[in-house]
Amino acid sequence: MKNILCIGAGYVGGPTMAVIAKNCPEYRVTVVDINAEKIAAWNSDNLPIYEPGLDDVVHCVRDRNLFFSTEVDRHIGESDIIFVSVNTPTKTFGQGAGKAADLQYWEKTARQILRNANSSKIVVEKSTLPVRTAHAMERILNSNDRGLHFDVISNPEFLAEGSAIRDLEEPDRVLVGGRETTSGQQAIQAIVDIYAHWVPQERIITTNLWSSELSKLVANAFLAQRISSINAIANLCEQTGANVEEVAHAIGTDSRIGSRFLRAGVGFGGSCFKKDILNLVYLCEYYGLPEVAAYWEQVVTMNEYQQANFVSKMISAMFNTVAGKRIALFGLAFKAHTSDTRESPGLAVCRRLLAEHADVVLSDPRALNNARLDLGSISDKVHYETDPYRAAEGAHAIAILTEWPQFAELDYQAIFNAMEKPAFIFDGRNILNHQALYEIGFNVFPVGRPSFTNFPG
Ligand code: UDX
Ligand code: ADP
Repeated sequence: MKNILCIGAGYVGGPTMAVIAKNCPEYRVTVVDINAEKIAAWNSDNLPIYEPGLDDVVHCVRDRNLFFSTEVDRHIGESDIIFVSVNTPTKTFGQGAGKAADLQYWEKTARQILRNANSSKIVVEKSTLPVRTAHAMERILNSNDRGLHFDVISNPEFLAEGSAIRDLEEPDRVLVGGRETTSGQQAIQAIVDIYAHWVPQERIITTNLWSSELSKLVANAFLAQRISSINAIANLCEQTGANVEEVAHAIGTDSRIGSRFLRAGVGFGGSCFKKDILNLVYLCEYYGLPEVAAYWEQVVTMNEYQQANFVSKMISAMFNTVAGKRIALFGLAFKAHTSDTRESPGLAVCRRLLAEHADVVLSDPRALNNARLDLGSISDKVHYETDPYRAAEGAHAIAILTEWPQFAELDYQAIFNAMEKPAFIFDGRNILNHQALYEIGFNVFPVGRPSFTNFPG
């Protein structure tokens, strides 16, 4: 039996290893993390992350060939293949602060592997990393005088939160990058063999190390660029009477453009897009390509504008002041079907409204705990209400900030009756029936589509 180890039991490591364990019964898969609370949660009925389908997969393989542990050193010694899935946040200090990836956890992990290894191993980069990180990794690992050899492989993860299990079970592609040496090619094959248990061969792409590392950053940059592009156009639609959904449909039917990732809204969130683009921007600057860097940085600038402008439109519609007004924010998760609030537009809107002295109440089916944690020192300045009807009671306005389908199914007549008048709805995800809301009596402000107001004149 081969031993696979994954260092880092987060959003990527946990689900990925669960799916590998399920599909590869002859491998023993262990996931380790320095965070003991997280490991205890992975070993309980209350998993540390919410992801549709995850509970079932974990229940089926945990303690069969999937194990969660805090004993990092011991498991390094016992493993043949080590996936490294620790966090690589944006650097907050020194050179490259605010853009470059902070590689300190990554380098510590490399040294930890070296200290505890007693045989040669394959080390797989699963976290998103700047191009050529594998080079540094190889140098650290192969600096030993114990005759140990390490092959470093890049195998970036493309799963999206909320659909992680489906994305892992039926990936568009799996990417495996490695060295062109004999042992590099053998290491690539060892990783391909894992995925070949359930992924068709033609969907497993092998490349050199640098192409694989760069492809992950580029995939996220292209996806985020589409969202910023359609959001930019949404602003123009609001000024001209065009409807962004009609425009998105009209252009998306061109097979060269494609229809997905063209939903205009309050902007993208999540732990990856902003971080990875800034990482790409830093790399371009580092390699002396300032024009290329500026081109990609604009994707993030546009996203920040989109969030700020959403709040400006709220304030302006509500007679230029929201101070003291109760405002219900529906949706703190950065997207539907997840409890993750990292870089969530909901929290960005919340912070801006607090700065305007609004009385903010947050409602979300899954993400209220994370929202409270993320707000930190200002978390007691807002109210939390799982039930959206109660959140909207006495509110002047509702803003939809996550595309949870249940928000579209609420009884808006009952909500309207319990609100202050005039009542406003700002649909930051364009998921509601705007005409019906207008007929109830709401003043309705979508993104990139005509607004409806019930004011005379
Ligand atoms: C993303 C990539 O999709 C995934 O391949 C990569 O591995 C990690 O980063 P994730 O951040 O989990 O995944 O979610 P994604 O579905 O890409 O959504 C990101 C953000 O964009 C969300 O806030 C979502 O609401 C927003 N979005 C998405 C839009 O505003 N409009 C769209 O058309 C699509
Ligand atoms: P991702 O979304 O990339 O999975 P997360 O932040 O969800 O990122 O998860 C990364 C995990 O890596 C965290 O649970 C963190 O505790 C863990 N981690 C960071 N450094 C180490 C380390 N040296 N050893 C073990 N686990 C680590």
